[in-house]
Amino acid sequence: MSQGRTLTFNIFRYDPQQPDCQPSTERYQITEAPGMTVFIALNMIREQQDPSLQFDFVCRAGICGSCAMVINGVPTLACRTLTANYADAEITLMPLPGFELIGDLSVNTGKFMRQLSERLQLWLTPTQQENDIHSIEAPMEPELADELYELERCIECGCCVSACATKQMNDHFVGAVGLMKLARFAKDSRDAREDSDFYHVIGNQDGVFGCMTLLGCQDNCPKQLPHQTQIAYLRRKMTRII
Ligand code: SF4
Ligand code: SF4
Ligand code: FES
Repeated sequence: MSQGRTLTFNIFRYDPQQPDCQPSTERYQITEAPGMTVFIALNMIREQQDPSLQFDFVCRAGICGSCAMVINGVPTLACRTLTANYADAEITLMPLPGFELIGDLSVNTGKFMRQLSERLQLWLTPTQQENDIHSIEAPMEPELADELYELERCIECGCCVSACATKQMNDHFVGAVGLMKLARFAKDSRDAREDSDFYHVIGNQDGVFGCMTLLGCQDNCPKQLPHQTQIAYLRRKMTRII
């Protein structure tokens, strides 16, 4: 049991609001407790050593996606990561790359997700029948409903975006989260959009043809979402239009 170890945290510090501030790494030490997560450790550091430390959280249960950060080089959720996983008791924390930095470990994933949603129109565009409030909703195959439900499990944490080399090289790339969310609507039998409509937004290098398929997205998604299947699905669909 790892109780009582001294943990060392090397934490990225930078406040972009302060003109004189330079990026740096701050070192903190705390005593590990049983079942401690990186999130709990960060709270202890903020409460006991440095109230100026910035990081985000809401749910503490892997549901809100707010606490995503890079932990020892891996984008993941601080509230779902046990400090016991790190045998040498040394943990380095960086903010997720690819997002606007608010300060220290806090990034603006919400702004990115909203822009993505508006750019790809990530909402249901109903067929005429679905638009008519007096008509009975058309039935959906249970298998399709299950598949859509699975894709709705995304918590918009941004880990797949930060793990994507294409996104780091091309800021306009929609990322795995954009492709996966668009696949969700392309599959929905209630959505009136044709393949050519989807081609219009992702049939290019900033969309599905820019993806290198190395699957850093799927490897780092804390909800284990099936990016590979969805990217292949969209790529097949878009290739047929060409
Ligand atoms: S498979 Fe595509 S979307 Fe996923 S990390 Fe690689 S380039 Fe990015
Ligand atoms: S697809 Fe996975 S990694 Fe990407 S934002 Fe959603 S939950 Fe996070
Ligand atoms: S605090 Fe909500 S996912 Fe970690």
